[in-house]
Amino acid sequence: MSKQNSYKDLPVPEFVRIREHLKGKLHPMRYEHTLGVSYTCIALAMRYGYDLQKAEMAGLLHDCAKRYDEAAIIKKCRSKGIELTENELNAPATIHAKLGAWMAEHKYGIDDPEILQAIACHTTGKPAMGLLDKILYIADYIEPRRDRAPRLPEIRKLAFEDLDEALYQIMKGILGYLEESGAYIDDMTRVAFEYCDAERMRRMEEAVTQMGSLADLKEEISQNDTGKQNGKNRRKSTGRQKRRRYQNH
Ligand SMILES: [Fe+2]
Ligand SMILES: [Fe+2]
Repeated sequence: MSKQNSYKDLPVPEFVRIREHLKGKLHPMRYEHTLGVSYTCIALAMRYGYDLQKAEMAGLLHDCAKRYDEAAIIKKCRSKGIELTENELNAPATIHAKLGAWMAEHKYGIDDPEILQAIACHTTGKPAMGLLDKILYIADYIEPRRDRAPRLPEIRKLAFEDLDEALYQIMKGILGYLEESGAYIDDMTRVAFEYCDAERMRRMEEAVTQMGSLADLKEEISQNDTGKQNGKNRRKSTGRQKRRRYQNH
């Protein structure tokens, strides 16, 4: 069998079917964004040791509800029994995340709770985000087709160096932008940022404590070394004194 035909009898994997389905349902630019997020999720999963297939699936399906406009999304949520808070209704752009998680489960057959949770919180974030939540949230912001967000080159680099710091910088930037533009800010967006900010402070305090312990350890080693050196010097000088005594004999 030639190499070219070797794929002919292989079953089509689920992610390929889903990708094809999304291609037919989403606007071409939304589909491009979806692919960008999916591949960026894979890259971040490689960097931070997360399951690649799960990361890819979260990226693929995160905006699946975006095939509908905001009014239709709200209507669908109501008809499916998905609860919406007053807050969410005031920030309707965030709601496709909730419907998206519902569609991923009921239309695309995803039952992995981590994937469903990551899709559900990808617009606002939430306190105590898991690794996949962070990967998807960040990938959505830095994927290659994005070009309007501020400090993109810096944040893209940071995402592969320090995931938590990248999350903090993105959340801070989004909140600042929403405040400046006078847009309604969903409660969860604020709560998620406050949690992320407090966690960052905790990490910094931990680093300072570690630096303090390192300085103490360095001081102890240096004192030990000085002690050993003095001991050696004492032994050398005693040796010299002994030799001198023998020479005097
Ligand atoms: Fe989205
Ligand atoms: Fe997105």
